[in-house]
Amino acid sequence: MLIEPATGHCGAEIREVDLNALTDSSFTSLQDALFTHGVIFLRDQSLSPEAHVALAQRFGEIDINRFFTAVKGHPEIAEVRTKASQKNVIGAGWHSDHSYDTAPAMCSILAARELPTHGGDTLFASAGAAYDNLSDGLRATLEGLKAWHSDGSFASSKIFDQADMEQAVTKPSLHPVVVKHPQTGRKVIFVNGDFTTHFDGWTAAESAPLLAYLYRYISQPAFMCRFRWSQGAVAIWDNRLVQHLAVADYQGQARLMHRVTVKGQPLG
Ligand code: SIN
Repeated sequence: MLIEPATGHCGAEIREVDLNALTDSSFTSLQDALFTHGVIFLRDQSLSPEAHVALAQRFGEIDINRFFTAVKGHPEIAEVRTKASQKNVIGAGWHSDHSYDTAPAMCSILAARELPTHGGDTLFASAGAAYDNLSDGLRATLEGLKAWHSDGSFASSKIFDQADMEQAVTKPSLHPVVVKHPQTGRKVIFVNGDFTTHFDGWTAAESAPLLAYLYRYISQPAFMCRFRWSQGAVAIWDNRLVQHLAVADYQGQARLMHRVTVKGQPLG
């Protein structure tokens, strides 16, 4: 297995691995690379829906997303679909999948199924590098804060068709702003633009300036990598270590990705 870091802080391309024939030791190396680089990219795979689900199950229990339409016959696989006629794109703001849950998702596995001729890349930003590079002053402030995360933005978005969207929305969850990665102990900043609403004990208006600063800070180019999709490509990211954003620059063209998300644990 060859592991080539994509940038200084975020992402790695993994070569010479067939996800359909993963040995236990290759899986361990893959998982280590995920925990080191936050997101890993594998090209030229022919991942069937069954193999997609089986790969996710090696990481843990599957977390079925309650907002996305599932792939027919595969309730564990969410369709991340943009129709050619659609203006809004799912995931076009910075976020960590399922940060609104009490136990935010561990990782997501996204497989390209139908790609636009150009555009539709995905950006990733390292929340670990962001924590490491904080000033002592801001780090001390953030260490003392918790923030609320809500899936309410889905209900008001025009992205999903489901009529019962409002019923899918759950109670907000509270997480520390600085969390320890459950498997490695690495500290990361855990707030994101799509789902974090405010700091605990602060109003939304009081929280907005510091949150806006953190979102700009985390998504600065030095902490980021950009993945240009190709047919057969698969990306696996750790939702605690990186945030991601789907670039909405392919209007008039369709894009279909299949995503399986793996359950995490409460963060502290
Ligand atoms: C997502 O936000 O989970 C999907 C990202 C993408 O479609 O590139």
